[in-house]
Amino acid sequence: MLEAEKFDFVNSFYLFKTKNFDNHETKKKINKLQFKYFTKNLTTFYNNNKILESDDFVDLRKHIDFYVLSFVKNILNKDNFTHRNSWFQAYKPHNYHSLHVHGLESFEYSFVFYVQTSDDSSEIKFYNPGYPYCYYKDYVFTPYENDLLIFNSYVPHEVLPNNDNQRISLAGNIQVS
Ligand SMILES: [Fe+2]
Repeated sequence: MLEAEKFDFVNSFYLFKTKNFDNHETKKKINKLQFKYFTKNLTTFYNNNKILESDDFVDLRKHIDFYVLSFVKNILNKDNFTHRNSWFQAYKPHNYHSLHVHGLESFEYSFVFYVQTSDDSSEIKFYNPGYPYCYYKDYVFTPYENDLLIFNSYVPHEVLPNNDNQRISLAGNIQVS
């Protein structure tokens, strides 16, 4: 049985407390990757924006795909999905990611999976679509390892200023069919 906590906006988005994924090997492989500073955080996006296609991350992809496919089938009542892109993001103290969206189409969804966090990892904040021009509601999530957030790509969000050297997430965009 798929367990998800549902949060309502104008639209909805979902938090999965994923289970049974050992991050140990994934973390070791991430340490060998090249990250580049993009404005105020470190990302692999500009070296490889299809990181889940790498042989190094087969187990991670299987784990993500299990939950994403369950989400697509059981919650969206759609048949399938394809990955558009995926990358790792890392945050040092005082790093952040300013307000942005990942796409505009209704078939585009995005996800964030937390590979590594600490008690001092900063929150991610989601706003209603249309923000900052209309402000109705926001949700702030403290990241925990193995949490998976899935949301419409058009939902505005930001990562607040970070306080540790531990915060590593996998981000990605998918297309639902
Ligand atoms: Fe994002």
